[in-house]
Amino acid sequence: MVLHIDSSPRAESVSSRLAGEFVERWCERHAGTRVVHHNTTAEKLPYLDAAMVEAFFAPEAARSAEQRRLLALSDGLVDELLECDVLVVAAPMWNLGVPASLKAWIDLVVRPGRVFEVTAEGVRPLVPVGKRVFVFTARGGDYGAGSAIAAMDYQEPYLRALFGSLGMSDVEFVNAEEQYHEGEVARRALERAEARMRELAADRASGENVNS
Ligand SMILES: Cc1cc2nc3c(=O)[nH]c(=O)nc-3n(C[C@H](O)[C@H](O)[C@H](O)COP(=O)(O)O)c2cc1C
Repeated sequence: MVLHIDSSPRAESVSSRLAGEFVERWCERHAGTRVVHHNTTAEKLPYLDAAMVEAFFAPEAARSAEQRRLLALSDGLVDELLECDVLVVAAPMWNLGVPASLKAWIDLVVRPGRVFEVTAEGVRPLVPVGKRVFVFTARGGDYGAGSAIAAMDYQEPYLRALFGSLGMSDVEFVNAEEQYHEGEVARRALERAEARMRELAADRASGENVNS
C-alpha cells in the first residue's frame, strides 16, 4: 500500500503535483497497488490538546471510553503508517519548516507504544523495517547544497531526523527550489525536480532499464 500525504492547501501546489505524478507513475509500475491519500490541510487534522496527550500515554487496558474515542482518529492514521510499504509526503516549505497541518499529522501518528517505545536503553522504533519514503518539497528560495541559505533548511533535516528516529532511513527527497522566482529560474528548478521524480518513480536505482 502507498500512503500518500499532501499538505499544501494550494490548488496549483508544486509539491502536491510532484507527489501526485510520482504516485501515478509508481502505481503504473506496481500493478494492483492500493493508495491511501490524505491532505492534512483539507482534512483539518486536530492539534494535540491535554486530553489527547493524556490518552496517548494511558496504558491501553486503563483507557476510558472517552480516551478510546479521542484516540480513534490517531489509531486509524497509525494503522495506515504501519501498514504502508511506501510513504509519499508532499510538503511546501513554510517558514523554513513544514506546514502546521503536516506537523499535526506527525503528532497524531508518532504514538508511544505503537510507533515507538521508550526502553531503559532509550527510544526504540516499532515501525516494521523496509518501508520506502519519498518526500517532495517546494520552496521559494534555493536551499540546495552550497547555496547561501542552505543552513536555513529546517525542513529536510527535520523530516530525515524524524523518519530516521522511527526506523525509516530509506528516504529520498526531491526539492523543487526557487519557486518564488518568476519564469525561467523557477521553471528550470521545477524541471530538475520533475526529472528526479521520474527517475525515482522508474526505480532506476534498482538497476532496471526503464525508458519512461
Ligand atoms: C505561509 C508560507 C510560508 C512560506 N515560507 C517560506 C520559507 O520559509 N522559505 C521559502 O523558501 N519559501 C517559503 N514559502 C514559499 C513556498 O515554499 C513556495 O511557494 C512553495 O511553492 C509552496 O509549495 P506548494 O506549491 O506545494 O504549495 C512560503 C509560502 C507560504 C504560503
